[in-house]
Amino acid sequence: MNNPKYLVGNWKMHKTKQEATDYMQRFIQRFQALQPAAAKTILAPPYIHLDGLHQKIGQLPIALAAQNCHHQAKGACTGEISADMLASLGVAYVLVGHSERRALQEESNDLLQCKIERTIQANMRPILCCGESHQIRAQNLAPSFIQRQLQESLGNLTASQAAKLLVAYEPVWAIGTGQVASTGIITTMHQAIRDILIERFGPLGQQIPILYGGSCTKDNASSILACPNVDGALVGNASLDADHLIEILAAFK
Ligand code: PGA
Repeated sequence: MNNPKYLVGNWKMHKTKQEATDYMQRFIQRFQALQPAAAKTILAPPYIHLDGLHQKIGQLPIALAAQNCHHQAKGACTGEISADMLASLGVAYVLVGHSERRALQEESNDLLQCKIERTIQANMRPILCCGESHQIRAQNLAPSFIQRQLQESLGNLTASQAAKLLVAYEPVWAIGTGQVASTGIITTMHQAIRDILIERFGPLGQQIPILYGGSCTKDNASSILACPNVDGALVGNASLDADHLIEILAAFK
């Protein structure tokens, strides 16, 4: 049987309550018309919308992801959100180590390792993001850079923990730039990630979903999804429009 495919819409820091409501009305209407969807559909809104979206989604096969979680279980961390809190809202996935957080919040691989463990302990699935900068690519160091990101943030993860893991390859230079990676680069990098996962976890590494992210749109989704070892897409900008995200979902067929 083929591995399941995944589509994640990452809203980042976008949408007021009313905008989220309007979006969901449109999205659900069109999503229902597409059933059965050919990919597991996951929305990653800002924290404050998670509960509202959960109510709106009801029994529909749409899952929720948080864009982050704190690395500690609980405590005096004003303004932070724990993995258990997210799980209690019906959240099933957590983005870990998005490049914007690595850059803006200076999140290190060691910190991400704690977040991955917290997420799994809370019975959710981490989506570990990795990806090289333009500078690293220009120096031909992309595969070794990714290898280090993965090794350091996966730490001592056991095979049973790794069964919950998803990885997203998101080259930093492709995020929000309109400069999508070529299918050649995607194929090479996803193969490199697959090899690292197999080396680390054995045959299980073959099952860990690897998503592509970075300027994915309805126009390029089919060719990205046709690349070997691409098990789905992590979509930022294009996910902000309900119709656009639905068109990308349709490209999984
Ligand atoms: P983008 O963002 O689709 O706007 O490039 C992807 C991401 O940051 O996850």
